[in-house]
Amino acid sequence: MKKLTRIALTVASVTFITALIINPVSAKKGGGVGKPIPDGIMKIAQKSCVNCHTEPGNFLALSHLNLGKWDSYSPAKQASKAKAMCDKVTKGKMPPKNFRENHPDGVPSKEEIKTICDWAESIQITKK
Ligand code: HEC
Repeated sequence: MKKLTRIALTVASVTFITALIINPVSAKKGGGVGKPIPDGIMKIAQKSCVNCHTEPGNFLALSHLNLGKWDSYSPAKQASKAKAMCDKVTKGKMPPKNFRENHPDGVPSKEEIKTICDWAESIQITKK
């Protein structure tokens, strides 16, 4: 039993160290899986974006941005999508015109747009 434990521990630590050696760059710089969307952002998205950007949603919208799959995006992808979100809401392109007309409450306010953009800025990956 003791011997087995030792073997198991050795295998585990070798695996761990190998992972560290193979992965340090991607773990820091946009590989792997990113962070979930903060609650404050999701609250805005809930009224303004999820109708189209989570399943079943809108096929075309989902192909660009699926907020339901956000957690599986890499940090690099999250950074670029968040930037695109800021960009689109700032320019008034998202939510789309039709949606704005039908859901006046779903149009993000100036503060909400700023919240999205500040968050987008905060998750950008700084290149060295
Ligand atoms: C009524 C449906 C609808 C709503 C609501 C909506 N979108 Fe979209 N969105 C779309 C569609 C459709 C596309 C694909 C547009 C295209 O290809 O021109 C899209 C594309 C995008 C893209 C991709 C742009 C790119 O270049 O990759 C982003 C980012 C985006 N939306 C963000 C948002 C955000 C943020 C909200 C909420 C504030 C939002 N959308 C609300 C339908 C919607």
